[in-house]
Amino acid sequence: MRKKKKVSESYTIMTELVLPNDTNTLHNLMGGRMMHWMDIVSAIAAQKHSNRIVVTASVDNVSFRESIKLGNVVSLEAQVTRAFNSSMEVHIKVYAEDIPAGRKVKTNEAFFTFVAVDQMGSPIDVPEAVPETENEKALYDGALQRRQLRLILAGRMKPHDAEELKAIFNLQE
Ligand SMILES: CC(C)(COP(=O)(O)OP(=O)(O)OC[C@H]1O[C@@H](n2cnc3c(N)ncnc32)[C@H](O)[C@@H]1OP(=O)(O)O)[C@@H](O)C(=O)NCCC(=O)NCCS
Repeated sequence: MRKKKKVSESYTIMTELVLPNDTNTLHNLMGGRMMHWMDIVSAIAAQKHSNRIVVTASVDNVSFRESIKLGNVVSLEAQVTRAFNSSMEVHIKVYAEDIPAGRKVKTNEAFFTFVAVDQMGSPIDVPEAVPETENEKALYDGALQRRQLRLILAGRMKPHDAEELKAIFNLQE
């Protein structure tokens, strides 16, 4: 029988201080540096869930709501939302904190997908992910539709095979 793990077991938090080398000429955190940190924290969450080596399979839309300033403390929180066969969707939330000003805001949110691989780099099945809280259950439920959308965009699924998406758009055959 397939092993089960609570999604909360994958919870990972990473904290970084924005230093001059992380910024652009406006002294704001560079988008690329942020995505690098997002990739690392979410890969660790996927590793915790699978106890395997994982590779990034895809990155969903990452938008930058507000700039993060030099000297801010950035906290990145990641947790697996759902596991499929060898792949896992990870939700990442990013917060920027200006400690002297006592201000902390959520600046980014994204979903990354990781695939667990064996020593030969071949996909290998991972444990089922079990959500417990209302928020975890909502993320778990939505993961199937997000998976279908990203597989269509990656050219790995035909739109007419995406049953979950057809249901939300109320599409008829
Ligand atoms: C990701 C990878 C392991 C998939 O291998 P593959 O031989 O295509 O394997 P499969 O077609 O059997 O797919 C394996 C899983 O990956 C998922 N997957 C593949 N491409 C995906 C994509 N673009 N988005 C989301 N999931 C994807 C599949 O849905 C499948 O999930 P499941 O097992 O949970 O059903 C392979 O493409 C790879 O190694 N890519 C390079 C990864 C890498 O180097 N990442 C870092 C780059 S910056």
